[in-house]
Amino acid sequence: MKLIICDSYEEGCLEGAKIILDVVKSNPKAVLGLATGSTPIGVYKEMVKDFKDNHTSYKDVISYNLDEYFGLEGTHPQSYRYFMEQHLFQYLDIDPANVHVPLGHGDIEKNADDYNAMLDKDVRDIQLLGIGSNGHIGFNEPGESFDSITHVVDLKESTIQDNAKLFFDGDIDAVPKKAITMGIKNIMDAKKILLMAFGINKRYAIKELVEGTMREEVPATILQKHDDVIVIVDKEAAIDLLK
Ligand code: F6R
Repeated sequence: MKLIICDSYEEGCLEGAKIILDVVKSNPKAVLGLATGSTPIGVYKEMVKDFKDNHTSYKDVISYNLDEYFGLEGTHPQSYRYFMEQHLFQYLDIDPANVHVPLGHGDIEKNADDYNAMLDKDVRDIQLLGIGSNGHIGFNEPGESFDSITHVVDLKESTIQDNAKLFFDGDIDAVPKKAITMGIKNIMDAKKILLMAFGINKRYAIKELVEGTMREEVPATILQKHDDVIVIVDKEAAIDLLK
């Protein structure tokens, strides 16, 4: 695991974007695993800037998002599909047919099976991850099996609270209580993993990820077993390391 400690969110996002852009530039047909949430917004800003300045093409790039809230259509402003359009896809030349976000409505079990089949076919060259304050990756909450594949989950109270603060104006009741997410095994199948975390709220998760014992109670600790992981954090998220 390679750890990069940055001075600021902006610096971390620039570093993160460079890593993703290297993958896209070296393989125009790259398969990207993408994330939502507050963490990657700056990375997507850098990718959009690069697209405008350097015209890096996404014409043949394929993308798979980690997760989606249960019950929200892609047109809902809080859905992750909508988030991706707003922050990234609308600005790039990516083919909409190559964009995949799990479907959080309809026949959810079938959606999960279909997503697993597609992920098996299109091995991701890189998977971008944020991390929950409780150590979740994707929406794989503490206790999730390391062998899990795309499935429906009940969100933990701490995740609902974190997301209410960031995206639902503090309205806990407005946050969906379930989601569909890539499983931990799907995440580990990516060739390269880039995990990013900023702010004091992530101190526990980063301490466990880097120095903790690998266990299902802290899902991100599985990444210790992957042989190509880059972790980008700021000083606040890294504050408990080596203490
Ligand atoms: C988002 C996702 C989640 C977030 C995590 C951190 O697609 O899968 O695991 O990465 O909850 O969220 P933020 O970045 O908002 O702190």
